[in-house]
Amino acid sequence: MTWLVKVDHITYACASGMIEKWAWFHIEVEGGKLIKRIDDIDPHNPNSSMKLWCIDYGSFGIALIEGIDRKEKSQVTLFTELHQDHSIQHVAYETKNLEQFQERLANYKCDILGEPITKTDALGIIKQLFCRGYSPTTPAKTTFAEYVERPKNSNSDSKITFSQQVGKGFYAQIEEAIAEEKYQPFTEFSAMPENWEPPKISEPESTRISNQSGGK
Ligand SMILES: [Fe+2]
Repeated sequence: MTWLVKVDHITYACASGMIEKWAWFHIEVEGGKLIKRIDDIDPHNPNSSMKLWCIDYGSFGIALIEGIDRKEKSQVTLFTELHQDHSIQHVAYETKNLEQFQERLANYKCDILGEPITKTDALGIIKQLFCRGYSPTTPAKTTFAEYVERPKNSNSDSKITFSQQVGKGFYAQIEEAIAEEKYQPFTEFSAMPENWEPPKISEPESTRISNQSGGK
């Protein structure tokens, strides 16, 4: 069975001074709707911060982030220096059950960045789990996965469970990992059997015929 339902949102890191331009593109050209605009997610942080603008398309969203440099360069600035403007920092996938999926990740030796965060965004209650970077480098330079769960019924028990959760925003979680120099990757594939083979693809009859005859 699949544990993922759909893409919840994609987060693009914008180079300095570019968030307005990309917001224009996603809103005016693609038809997205601006549902959240935070021009400084941590105004009291003397070191750095970021802007966060969220655009909704109905079935998924796009988040734009741009670094705010103070005493130090923002992790978003560092990310765009390496990956360039409007580069994907993370993709968030909706799971059927985040708690169970977190256990599954642990069983398969996949490492998370910190404990799940529960908050209310423009679309309702969301529980988020951020993972360590795909590459073994500073978290400011590697892409990573986010897994989320959105309770369908805001009056359900899950709302109560979720509202009791506490956690840090992902900016703070990444800052902490940078400071601790925890550079281990999301997974080293230690749970992958040495003789693992991809499963056979069961193709429809028509595709098989076309492949046999050299069709493309
Ligand atoms: Fe996200």
